[in-house]
Amino acid sequence: MAFCIFVVYYTSSMVTASEYFVGRSFLNAKAMVIGVPKEIKSQEFRVGLTPAGVQAFLSAGHSVYVQQGAGLGSGFLDADYEKAGGHILSDASSIYAKADMIIKVKEPLPSEYTLIKPNQILFTYFHFAASQSLTDAMVKSHAICIAYETVELADRSLPLLTPMSEVAGRLAIQYGAYYLGKPQGGKGKLMGGVPGVKPAKVLILGGGVVGTQAAKMAAGLGAQVVIFDTNLARLRYLTDVLPANVQTEYSTQHAIEAHLSSADLIVGAVLLHGAKAPHLIKKEHLLAMEPGTVLVDVAVDQGGCIETCHPTTHDKPVFEVDGILHYCVANMPGAVPQTSTMALTQATLPYALQIANLGWEKACDQHEALKKGLSISQGKILKAEIA
Ligand SMILES: NC(=O)c1ccc[n+]([C@@H]2O[C@H](COP(=O)([O-])OP(=O)(O)OC[C@H]3O[C@@H](n4cnc5c(N)ncnc54)[C@H](O)[C@@H]3O)[C@@H](O)[C@H]2O)c1
Repeated sequence: MAFCIFVVYYTSSMVTASEYFVGRSFLNAKAMVIGVPKEIKSQEFRVGLTPAGVQAFLSAGHSVYVQQGAGLGSGFLDADYEKAGGHILSDASSIYAKADMIIKVKEPLPSEYTLIKPNQILFTYFHFAASQSLTDAMVKSHAICIAYETVELADRSLPLLTPMSEVAGRLAIQYGAYYLGKPQGGKGKLMGGVPGVKPAKVLILGGGVVGTQAAKMAAGLGAQVVIFDTNLARLRYLTDVLPANVQTEYSTQHAIEAHLSSADLIVGAVLLHGAKAPHLIKKEHLLAMEPGTVLVDVAVDQGGCIETCHPTTHDKPVFEVDGILHYCVANMPGAVPQTSTMALTQATLPYALQIANLGWEKACDQHEALKKGLSISQGKILKAEIA
C-alpha cells in the first residue's frame, strides 16, 4: 500500500506536498538566492512571493531578498518579510544583482531588461507571443525564462493560470451586478430580485474555470443563470454540482440568440487553447438586447468572445455601444491584489521550491509540467509557437 502511494506521487507531473517540503539539504543541491522585485507595470499591485513563501524557502535552506515596499499593494509590510527571515533591499538593481532566481508576477519591462544576468532564472508570467521586443530581450539576456502561463499538467490544465481565472470569474459577477445599477448606466435591476419580483437573468458563455466561478457567484446572489459550453462532459458535471437556479445549455448560435432579449448580464468566458476566442455575440446581436444590459467579456485577453469588446483598464473599465454597457478589463485580478497574490503564490510556490531545491535543469527533467513552462533558455527559444 505504502509503495503504491509512493509510485503514484512520483509518476505524477504535479509537484506534491511531500516533495515541496523535502528541501535542498536532502536533495544535496546548492542553496539558491531568491529575489523578489517590486512590480512596476501600471496598476499592478501583486507581488511574486508572500512572507509565508519566504519562510518556506528559508526552511529549505535558501535565502530571500525582497525589494523595499514590494508587498505593500498586497497588504504585506517589509517588516512582515523580515520577520519571516527575508532581507529587504532598497532597489531593483540590488535584487537582480544578488539573485539566482527572480520570482515576479508580470513580464520584465524594458527598464528591467538590463538588470537581468546570464543564467539567472526568471519565474513569472511572460506572454511571449504578445511581445516580440520582450522575446528578443530575453533571448539576448541569456537568462532562463520559465513562464507561469505555459506550465501545463497532463490533463492540459494550466495550474498557474487557474487561480487568476477563479478570481476573474468571481469578479465578473461583482462588477456585472454593480454596473446593472441605474447610476452606472445599467438597467437598474437587483441580481436576486426580492420576494414577488423576478431576479436578474445571467448568461455565461463558457463553463470552464471562469464560467463556473461566475455561475456559482451569480447563483449565490439568487440570479437566474444559464451557462453554455460545447463540451458535453463539462455540461454534465456542471449540472451535477451547480445549484438549481443554474441551467446548462449546449452552446450554439441559435441557443444563445434565444436568450438575448431577456438577458440582463452576459459574461464571456470562452477559451480555445492556442487560438483567438470565437465571437459568440456579434454587433448586430446588441440590437436584440434591452438598453442597459451589461456585457462582461473576461475572455478579452484572448480577443474576446463579444465582437464589440476591446480591452479596457481599471481606470476606465466600461464603455457603451448601442445602449449596451461593456466591461472588458484585461487584468481583472489586479483589482483585488490581496486575494490575487495569495491565490497566485499558493499555486506557484511548490514549483518555485522545486526549481530552487533541484536546480532548474533537474526540476524541468523531473516535472513535465515545469518543462512545458521553460520557454527561453540561455539565448535559445524552446517553444515553436514563440519562435
Ligand atoms: N480578463 C481577465 O482578467 C482574465 C483573467 C483570467 C482569465 N481570463 C480569460 O478568461 C478566458 C476563460 O478562461 P478559463 O480559465 O475559464 O478557460 P477554460 O479553458 O477553463 O474554459 C473555457 C471553456 O470554454 C468552452 N468553450 C469553447 N468553445 C466554446 C463555445 N463555442 N461556446 C461555449 N463554450 C465554449 C470550453 O469547453 C471550456 O469549458 C480565457 O480567455 C482567459 O485567458 C481573463
